[in-house]
Amino acid sequence: MSNNSIRIVEVSPRDGLQNEHTLISSQIKVELITRLSDAGLKHIEAASFVSPRAVPQMADSHQVMQLLPRQKDVIYSALIPNIKGLNAALDAGVTEVAIFTAASELFNQKNINCSIADSFARFKDILEICQEKNIRVRGYISTVFNCPYQGEISPAQVTYVSRQLIDMGCYEISLGDTIGTGTANKVTRLLQQMRQEMPIEQIAVHFHDTYGQALTNIYAALEQGIKVMDSSVAGLGGCPYAKGSSGNVATEDVVYLLNGLGLESGIDLTKLVGVGHWISGQLRRKNTSKTGLAMNLRR
Ligand code: HMG
Ligand code: MG
Repeated sequence: MSNNSIRIVEVSPRDGLQNEHTLISSQIKVELITRLSDAGLKHIEAASFVSPRAVPQMADSHQVMQLLPRQKDVIYSALIPNIKGLNAALDAGVTEVAIFTAASELFNQKNINCSIADSFARFKDILEICQEKNIRVRGYISTVFNCPYQGEISPAQVTYVSRQLIDMGCYEISLGDTIGTGTANKVTRLLQQMRQEMPIEQIAVHFHDTYGQALTNIYAALEQGIKVMDSSVAGLGGCPYAKGSSGNVATEDVVYLLNGLGLESGIDLTKLVGVGHWISGQLRRKNTSKTGLAMNLRR
């Protein structure tokens, strides 16, 4: 990876579609993932193996992974909350997983029905199995700035949770601004603290765009040396367990920003915009909603 390279983790098939009111067919999901890889995305979070009662939109994840024609140089990862999810993911042929906890106790209870400490205990077992099987594990931390139930979260708490996940063996931590309340100064403050405790190369950012701050936050993160960011085509996304969690930052807008800064993502913006239009059509969404500048310019 050159100094100018940025890695984008595309989360629309998971974070995007988990929040749609209508259920999307497995075929459409597979086509979305395929179109995204055709546009140059190399890491796509394709599914999640969670309780179908908690998130019915992801209930067909096994089928999606089975139907998916996989490209050799693309990572198709899946979100898992526990050993049951890990086993289901492995059974479906997943080769990389993401575990998820939060910096806030109350959000974690609502989202995965356990305390932060209990989530670490679950993850320890998951990490052990994954190490044996040579499965890479990414870690998410939600509510890194604010929690919808508990209020402000301190950088020290986020740093503590991150340290635990890295020590357990996660290769990277993605910092989730679940309800999009982060602003550039908060991003700078958090990353400045975290980089004293761990290599910046192990940190990624995951911004929801509730207050239109995501691109500015990404710029602030780039200034701190962040090279990995999560985004979602057409700005799809949100967590059903966090009021205020609207769409993720649109991948089209992120690529447009990176291109303008002379940074390389390896993504074909024109093709990507086409994917955004296509999935928006499938979801019967109005093109002006949540689509961002890059998309609107090309309409
Ligand atoms: P629980 O009720 O405590 O689990 O839920 P349990 O172990 O007591 O099991 C209850 C039932 O769920 C049982 O079924 C289990 O078999 C089943 P029953 O016997 O009642 O029929 N079950 C499962 N089924 C399928 N797959 C599994 C699984 N585990 C148990 N893996 C649990 C705990 C974690 C399972 C549940 O709360 C859950 O699935 N939560 C997931 C919530 C979720 O997916 N949220 C959205 C993703 S996180 C996010 O969006 C944030 C992120 O984007 C970053 C950011 O933006 O901040 C990552
Ligand atoms: Mg998210």
